[in-house]
Order: sequence, then structure tokens, then C-alpha cells
Amino acid sequence: MRAIAITQPGDPDVLQPRIGPLPAAGPDDVLIRVAAAGVNGPDLAQRRGHYDPPPGASPLPGLEVAGVIAACGKTVSGWREGDRVMALTNGGGYAEYVAVPAGQVLPVPQNWSLAEAAALPETWFTVTQTLVMRAALAPGMTVLVHGGSGGIGGAAIQICAILGARAIAVVSSPEKAAYCRALGAVASIDRTREDLIERVMAITDGKGVDRVVDLIGGDMAATNIDLSARRGHIVQIATLGNASATISLRKMMAKELTLSGSTLRPQDAATKATIAARIRADLLPALNSPEWIKPHIERFPLDDAAGAHRLMETRGHRGKLVLVTAFGAAGDGT
Ligand SMILES: NC(=O)c1ccc[n+]([C@@H]2O[C@H](COP(=O)([O-])OP(=O)(O)OC[C@H]3O[C@@H](n4cnc5c(N)ncnc54)[C@H](OP(=O)(O)O)[C@@H]3O)[C@@H](O)[C@H]2O)c1
Repeated sequence: MRAIAITQPGDPDVLQPRIGPLPAAGPDDVLIRVAAAGVNGPDLAQRRGHYDPPPGASPLPGLEVAGVIAACGKTVSGWREGDRVMALTNGGGYAEYVAVPAGQVLPVPQNWSLAEAAALPETWFTVTQTLVMRAALAPGMTVLVHGGSGGIGGAAIQICAILGARAIAVVSSPEKAAYCRALGAVASIDRTREDLIERVMAITDGKGVDRVVDLIGGDMAATNIDLSARRGHIVQIATLGNASATISLRKMMAKELTLSGSTLRPQDAATKATIAARIRADLLPALNSPEWIKPHIERFPLDDAAGAHRLMETRGHRGKLVLVTAFGAAGDGT
């Protein structure tokens, strides 16, 4: 099969097409013929040599795909050859085939192309595990979403909308603000022109936000504490600005705040299956509605994975970038 290899750590050009064997699928796995693979922030970190795959995972990049089931392992039930699926992979998504534990597979929502579906799993699993399950997101809560126009940010905004919470998106341009509002954000803050704390306090009548989804870290950690409501919860998903921070523990104590962090990829199969079950039960039904606003996607041919990484690094995109295989381009309206 054709797959994209990371030939050495480095710039996007180290992503090169290679021909290799089909992945081995175990008894609990399904083998997916990939139509499209989503591109995510962690892929960039892996390509640069800063995010090694966990032991036993594919060394190829690619944490999410959509396609058609080509084969099912012996113990797999509930899925059949030919089913249209989307899946969180353990790596190896930038390829024509990938083997995935069956518990990490979800049905494609109605009226979604496989390219649109390929853009969903990684961010929705991440936000579901952190914001929904660990931080106990509840209806009526107000949530500040940093990087609102990106992959994680868009997922957080839409999940808030489904669960009756009110997302405030942090963005860097009026176009990105409009995009986040279209996804369901109730308000937006342009971080290049506006003061985050002042705007949050104005929007929340001085109360602060109940939850923060932070991708930035560094100085933003102290800001997040200042703009949080009493008993708030700050969910640290990335540190795009700086991995180190100086914060006032006294302020955290006074406000009874929680700060939690995690990374999805090293979680075990049972945990990922639990997250998948939660998405299927509580979130996917909304996506079957014809009125549902799908996140914006931009398509690249699989062989041009480097081009997708380049665009993501310039932050010129909104929504998600997906790589389409020859199978995806030939069939299915990707
Ligand atoms: N913890 C986990 O399990 C997990 C899982 C998936 C992803 N992640 C991490 O989450 C981060 C975001 O991933 P993504 O796929 O959502 O990426 P993305 O689509 O590029 O979105 C990130 C957004 O953050 C904003 N941003 C603000 N300050 C930034 C900075 N200093 N550097 C870069 N972007 C900045 C950018 O928008 P503006 O510049 O327009 O504001 C950008 O759109 C990545 O670091 C990724 O590795 C973590």
C-alpha cells in the first residue's frame, strides 16, 4: 500500500510517499481501507521529532481516518466488511489501509462525506475525554475556547453547543470570529485587539467562565486563572505558546479551581473505547441532523501531506485539513 513516512525528523518535506506492506490486523482490530485521513497538531509535533509514538503503535503519522471496513478480526462484533466508518487510530492514518482496535471505530454521520468524517475523531475524542468527561461539562456552563478556529477549538465549540453549554471563542481575525460563531460559539474575542479578561468579565456579568480549554500555556495560564469563575476548571490540552508557566496557587485556592491536563494518544484501548461510547451516545445523534454545520475542511492529496503541514504551520487555515487517498478521490464523494 501507499503511505506517508517521516523519513527523518524535520520540516514538512521529510513527509514522503512510500510503498509498504498492509498493516497486520489483530483479532480485536478492523482493517480500514482509508478514503481520507485528518491532519492534527500532534502530527506536526511527531514529524518534528517531539512526539514519539507510544510503544507498539505504528511509526507512520496519522491519528484519524474515515473509510470502508476491508476486514474484521475474529473477536470483532457490530461491524461488517463494507461499513462506512470513521476511527481514532493509534498512528498510521496517512496510508491507504490502517488497522484500528474496533472500540475506536464510529459510524459516519448521515449526509457526511468520508473526507468530512475523517476530520472528526482525534479532536472529538480529545475534547470528550477532557472537557466533557474529566471536567464534567454541564448545560448552562460558559466555556472559554482558545484557538477556537482550529481543530480542537472547533470541536470544543460544537460539543458545547450540543450539550447546552455556551462557548466563547478566542480568535485572531474577524473571519475566524465569524467561522466560530457559525459553528455555535455565543461570543468571540479577538486576542489581537481585545483584552481577554475584560471581555470575559463583560460577557459573563463579572462572574468569569466555568471552563477553559487552553492550547497556549505560558503566560496564558495566569490569565486563565484570572478569568475563571469560582470552582472553575481549566483543561490544558496543548502548550503552543510555552510549556512552562508561573501561576498564583493562592488565587487557585481562593477560587477553588481545578487545572487538569492529558494527552490522548498514550491512553489504552479500553479508555479510548469508553470515550468512543460516550461520543456515540451523547454527541453523534446531533450530527445526523441535516441542519448540522460541518466544520470547514480543506483537502490535499495523500502524497501532498507536506503541503498540508506547511499550511497548518502558517496558521492560515480554519477548521481541518484532510488527506484524500486515490480510493477516496475515486469513490464516495470525498
Ligand atoms: N492533549 C491532547 O491529547 C491533544 C490532542 C490533539 C491535539 N492536541 C494539541 O492541540 C493543539 C492544537 O491542535 P489543533 O489540531 O487544534 O491545531 P490547529 O488547528 O492549528 O489549531 C490551533 C489554533 O490555536 C491558535 N493559536 C493561538 N496561539 C497559537 C500559537 N502560539 N501557536 C499556534 N497556534 C496558536 C491558532 O489560531 P489563531 O492563531 O488564529 O488564534 C490555531 O488555529 C496542538 O498543539 C496539538 O498537538 C493535543
